[in-house]
Formats: sequence, structure tokens, C-alpha cells
Amino acid sequence: MITMITPEAYLLTGKKAIVTGGGQGIGKGIVEALTNLGAHVAVAEINNETREQVIAEAKARGQKAMGVSVDVRSKASVDAMVQTVLKEFGQIDLLVNNVGGTTGVGPRPLHATTEAQWESIYVMNAKSVYLVTRAVADQMIKQGKGGAIVSIASIGGMWGHENLALYGSMKAALINFSQSLNGELGRYGIRVNSVSPGSIITPLSSRSNAGRPDYIDETIRMTPLGRKGIPANIAGAVAFLLSPAAEFISGQNILVDGGRGFLGRCPVPAYSEASS
Ligand SMILES: NC(=O)c1ccc[n+]([C@@H]2O[C@H](COP(=O)([O-])OP(=O)(O)OC[C@H]3O[C@@H](n4cnc5c(N)ncnc54)[C@H](O)[C@@H]3O)[C@@H](O)[C@H]2O)c1
Repeated sequence: MITMITPEAYLLTGKKAIVTGGGQGIGKGIVEALTNLGAHVAVAEINNETREQVIAEAKARGQKAMGVSVDVRSKASVDAMVQTVLKEFGQIDLLVNNVGGTTGVGPRPLHATTEAQWESIYVMNAKSVYLVTRAVADQMIKQGKGGAIVSIASIGGMWGHENLALYGSMKAALINFSQSLNGELGRYGIRVNSVSPGSIITPLSSRSNAGRPDYIDETIRMTPLGRKGIPANIAGAVAFLLSPAAEFISGQNILVDGGRGFLGRCPVPAYSEASS
């Protein structure tokens, strides 16, 4: 227990962490933050090229990072990932469930959605977090030393958004999943929180917002802090929640969006039958 806050309370020295989807975007920003703060990080990523690049960069900074190939949608792959990390690191103290996204399904009204699209968004955002959390929490309980888990949800999961029901409802599920697990895992010293990004500049968002300059301008205009976020902004909140400084925080969802959401200002790109 911490009795006085010092700079060390914000460090993660020697902690063994898994970051899913750490190869690019927000996940890469989180890997950089955690390794800079002294954690040993397993970059659990499906893309071999970006995974190896992120590890090479961490090693060049003199930090400890390992790569593990995983498809978080598959239980067998997730279980193998945990075993690989344990073989190298010996234990797991921290988990960041970062993989997620719209799986290429742009904003659309209910009538323009399909069962297959619902399924793919469910598997990518909700089932994957269940599989990884289940496997890692079991291990943390077995270790008996506590732990901390942060899942990346979304501003889209905090309020209803027109044309975003599929993605938004899965992220809402993830926020509740974290809050509910907080009730179960606290007795083992495991803290469970989520972070909800607003609009963040990443390869995913750049791809899906290409050709929507009006939407981007509108988003920035509606954001009190006057810009879109970057991965480091999300990583700052994640690193804090994982750190000893947050040792009494569990069950929370932190919105990191430049101040937009709580003003009720959330533009969603327009849907057109032609572009769907
Ligand atoms: N970018 C935003 O504006 C924004 C806003 C709100 C929430 N989010 C959430 O933040 C998280 C990260 O988003 P991002 O924009 O950095 O995404 P991204 O697509 O840029 O990066 C996702 C990473 O996950 C990896 N990945 C994808 N499928 C995988 C799988 N099945 N198994 C293992 N790895 C896999 C990808 O290769 C990639 O490296 C997601 O959960 C997303 O929903 C993003």
C-alpha cells in the first residue's frame, strides 16, 4: 500500500505486461508508455511485421519487450499466447485489452446491417476481451500477487450514437464487463478498469475517416480542447490506471476525448446507401 505519492508511484518497474494489438495505433502508444515506465511488455499482435517493428524499437531504447503472435478471437490462440508469455516472463501482472474496432463496417442504420457484420464486431470487441481476460485473470489469481487490467472501450460505448449501434453496444458491454469483474476480482487484489477514447488519430481511424473531411472538422470544432487525440493521450490514462498510484481505483471507465463527450457533442459520419 502506498502511504505517500512519489514519482515512483507512477512507474511500472519490472512489471510483466501483455498489450493486445500493440503493433500500431493506440496499442503501440501503450507499449511505448509501459516500456518507458519500466514494464516488460509482451506485444500480442496478429501482424508479424508491425509486432517485430515495435519490439525492435523498444529494444533499441534498451527496454524489455517480447513478441507473441495471437489472434484474440480464438481461444486456442489466446491460451497459447498466455503460455508463451509465461515461459519468457514467468508471470503476468498487467493486461491491456486493446484490440477492437469496427471490422470495416462503417456507420450505418440498423436496416443496412447484416447478421455477419454483428457477429464480426461482437467477436472482435466483446468475445476477444472475454477470452483474453478469462485466461489472464485465472493466471493472476493463481499467482496470488494481484494485478491490473485495463480494456480499451470507446466514447461510442458510453452513450447511444445514431448509426453506431453495433460497435457502440459491444463497447458498452466491455465497460460493464470491467465494472462487473471489478466486483469479483478485487478480493484477489486485481483491479479492473476501462478507458474510452474519443477521436484518436490512428491507422484505423485515418482509414475509416478518409474522404470525410467535414466530419473531422466537425469533431474538432466540437472538442473543447480543439484537436483530435493521439495514442499517447490514451496511453497516459492506461499507464496511470496500471500504476501503483491508482492502487485504490477499480471499476472505473475514464473518458479521454478532449472534453467532448460530456457536453453531449458526438458527431457521427453520415450514412449514404451509395457508399455502404
Ligand atoms: N482510433 C480511435 O479513434 C478509437 C476511438 C475509440 C476507441 N478505439 C478503440 O481503441 C482500440 C485500438 O484502436 P486503433 O485505432 O489503435 O486500432 P488499429 O486498427 O490502428 O490497431 C489495432 C491493432 O490490433 C491488431 N489486431 C487486429 N485484430 C487482431 C486480432 N484478431 N488479434 C490480435 N491483434 C489484432 C492490428 O493488427 C493492429 O495492430 C480499439 O479497441 C478501438 O475500438 C479507437
